[in-house]
Amino acid sequence: MKVEELYNYGMPEKAIEIIKKKGINEFFPPQEEALRKGLLNLEKNFVIAVPTASGKTLIGEMLIIKNLIDRGGKALYIVPLKALGAEKFDELKAYETLGLKVALTTGDYDTGARWLESYDIIITTSEKADSLIRHSPSWISKVSCVVADEIHLINDASRGATLEVTIARLLHINKNLRLLALSATVGNAREVADWLGAELITSDWRPVELKEGIYLDGKIIFSNSSSLEIENSDEPALALALDTVNREGQSLIFINTRRGAESFAVKAAKKLKGSGIIEEKLLKEIGQEILHVLPEPTKICRKLARTVEGGSAFHHAGLEIEQKKIVER
Ligand SMILES: Nc1ncnc2c1ncn2[C@@H]1O[C@H](COP(=O)(O)OP(=O)(O)OP(=O)(O)O)[C@@H](O)[C@H]1O
Ligand SMILES: [Mg+2]
Repeated sequence: MKVEELYNYGMPEKAIEIIKKKGINEFFPPQEEALRKGLLNLEKNFVIAVPTASGKTLIGEMLIIKNLIDRGGKALYIVPLKALGAEKFDELKAYETLGLKVALTTGDYDTGARWLESYDIIITTSEKADSLIRHSPSWISKVSCVVADEIHLINDASRGATLEVTIARLLHINKNLRLLALSATVGNAREVADWLGAELITSDWRPVELKEGIYLDGKIIFSNSSSLEIENSDEPALALALDTVNREGQSLIFINTRRGAESFAVKAAKKLKGSGIIEEKLLKEIGQEILHVLPEPTKICRKLARTVEGGSAFHHAGLEIEQKKIVER
């Protein structure tokens, strides 16, 4: 389904233009299904439990915009992590030209809730949402639409309860609330949907096929029994990463310590530099950008810049926010 078809679902042309400016021209299948099942009629709640990177955010954005235009009030976008809040803030800011004001509140410094009165779209963490409701600002009853992102974390023993209570309270405050819960594919999606009286959309569609395999002695055996030879190495993770890059792919490696992640990135950069498979000129520019994020580069700034110039990078909580953003892009 083409994005232009949103017009038939009552979306204003200006909003469609904004979505197209994000580089989106055609909907992914789960997005199309949500539209066809009446997401924008604003009559039902939805739980969408689909794989990663299948475009759940846009489903949330479309609901928020349509809801604010048709029914007014305010929209809350609830995320589990501050870093995700910043990401959603950037995504939703794109709609400000529709005359909607977007705020991000994740908690550390702004304690009150009254300043949010004049905002239409409020992005918040679940902990902050809980505290906002406790402050009980006059605007809370105006919340007409809630998107709860990553709602599968409701299963999380330490944090799930806060989210559950927050959602229950919001539903209680506004009986006409439209709720959209976005989830990874989890076993109890049906249960969550029943709790919310919501329509459930599930799918195993993903934009890139996922293959699972086990590497042993220079060979990956995939779950469908096919196999792939990789250059044998006493550092299998590095060998696999380099093989992927050689096939014009990207490789993401999880390592359990910061120091381990850094030293892996240094090793990978050494192998990649001068290999002719990385874009040295562009990477040099990005490396320089990373180096000068602080007025005076620290040891870690220099290390990250060096790895980036060599075509790899590390990412952990010890990086500056700006550096994380550069690595993520
Ligand atoms: N219809 C589309 N066409 C092309 N790109 C799209 C489309 N919808 C979303 N995207 C892009 O796909 C990427 C992943 O989208 P998004 O972050 O919303 O996924 P998600 O389902 O929320 O994944 P996760 O479970 O990891 O949070 C984003 O970069 C987004 O801009
Ligand atoms: Mg998401």
